Amino acid sequence: WAADEQGTAEMALAALEEQILHEGPHTIAAILMESVIGSGGVLSHPQGYVQGIRALCDKYGIVYIADEVMVGFGRTGKLWGFQNYAGVIPDIVTSAKGLSAAYLPLAMVAMRQPIKDFFENEPLGWGATYQAHPVSLACAYECIKFMLDNDIPGAAKKLEPVMVECISALIDDHPSVRQGRALGLFGCIDLVNAEGQYVQNIAGPMAPAAAKLKQAMMEEGLFGLFRPPFLHCAPPLVISEEELRDGFLRLDRALQKFDVAVAS
Ligand SMILES: Cc1ncc(COP(=O)(O)O)c(C=O)c1O
Repeated sequence: WAADEQGTAEMALAALEEQILHEGPHTIAAILMESVIGSGGVLSHPQGYVQGIRALCDKYGIVYIADEVMVGFGRTGKLWGFQNYAGVIPDIVTSAKGLSAAYLPLAMVAMRQPIKDFFENEPLGWGATYQAHPVSLACAYECIKFMLDNDIPGAAKKLEPVMVECISALIDDHPSVRQGRALGLFGCIDLVNAEGQYVQNIAGPMAPAAAKLKQAMMEEGLFGLFRPPFLHCAPPLVISEEELRDGFLRLDRALQKFDVAVAS
């Protein structure tokens, strides 16, 4: 990797362009990526990378799809995750979760007009049982109105410094927390063992110490996305600062037990 973000982005883009040319651009329909990588640990792309992807897609006639299932609808402090990268507009956006605040199941896809026109004229020969379910749509309509009227993405942005502060405190106070990051109300910490290695592989069976942490979190009333070695923090976007700090105090107590478990 290069010494700075820009250099890293340039290297990654050069490698991607080489791959596109190797495959043959005409064989590639689309590039699909999460605007901020979610389950993989809340990883933002280096500045310039997403703009570079957009430019490569334009250059080679490839559709750029932004997966906004986790980060759409305000999670990262912007209405859309891709807005964290200046000037980027995808061709297709997929989203779900925050669309209905997860009260009811609903997913969505948005696209540029020419793509919409294509599928209007040449519809695919399949559907889904609950596609456009009216009750879910009514729910989503109310959620989005609330989100826009109350600037929920702005509320998430406002609490980002609290996320960063609380995550930094966990890193300082717990040998089992190697590093962490947050964007809006989307945070993650990386858990390590006494040797400073990840407490387990992401796809592996849950390590005994990780299972103890899960139990300790449940006892503290904390429940969330936990894919060891990554522990996510993605609270409701309407959370107050007081509630958020209370949540981190609970996590701090649970991690004290984890510190002991990984050391023994
Ligand atoms: C980032 C991301 N993309 C896609 C999906 C899959 O979404 P769906 O179940 O609506 O197909 C998920 C589900 O958790 C997700 O988190």
